[in-house]
Amino acid sequence: MEELKIPRHIAIIMDGNGRWAKNQGMPRVMGHYRGVEVAEDITEACIDLGVEYLTLFAFSTENWNRPREEVDTLFDLMKTYFHEKRERLRELGVRVRFLGRRGRLPTDLRKIMDTLERETQSCENIQVNIAIDYGGRDDIIRAVKKAISLGMEDIDEPSFSSLLDMSGVPDPDLLIRTAGERRISNFVLWNLAYTELYFTEVCWPEFTREELIKAIEDYSSRQRKFGRILDE
Ligand code: IPE
Ligand code: IPE
Ligand code: MG
Repeated sequence: MEELKIPRHIAIIMDGNGRWAKNQGMPRVMGHYRGVEVAEDITEACIDLGVEYLTLFAFSTENWNRPREEVDTLFDLMKTYFHEKRERLRELGVRVRFLGRRGRLPTDLRKIMDTLERETQSCENIQVNIAIDYGGRDDIIRAVKKAISLGMEDIDEPSFSSLLDMSGVPDPDLLIRTAGERRISNFVLWNLAYTELYFTEVCWPEFTREELIKAIEDYSSRQRKFGRILDE
């Protein structure tokens, strides 16, 4: 087997929580509960493998269109989780950073997000970016607005990138989407320009370290060309 090339940055669209729960005869929210546990396990796996950045899509700008009850439950779940796991994340050396808008989220959730970012800012084992109320288009629009308000005229790729939510973070090397859908669903747009894409049928609540390794094995077999012609 080929040598495993560990991506420096993995991004994941954690999809299929609802379908998984339904298949088990449980309410959708049980899928979200299980999904949070899986996110923690995969974070630990990424640390063990030496991945430097992990970006997780937790709530999109379009997910506001779900029933109010599901949206509220998701935010409650995040709030409880971020609160309970503060110590654990620090022990693991996880630097947490949030992507997306803050302004539309419940105040108590926002507070714990700010606290978690502050408390983990000097952690060095991995950076986990959690995208909440995040949309790739919204990210770009907010960056354009910043550029205008700063009076920027000579915009080039590096200066524009520095205004996006992922500023200072290398572009994802590998994007994983679970649960069989083959689309980006308005996740990171700008920074995925040359990312390798991997899709699996496995729903997020049953995604495991073994599945992660499979994705990395597949990634390891890819030839990244970035527009160039490889020498024979
Ligand atoms: C992903 O699972 C989690 C969020 C989008 C918050 P879904 O809730 O989209 O699960 P499916 O796709 O309906 O099965
Ligand atoms: C993408 O999943 C958003 C997250 C995983 C947070 P969705 O389930 O919302 O995407 P669509 O609606 O199937 O495209
Ligand atoms: Mg979905």
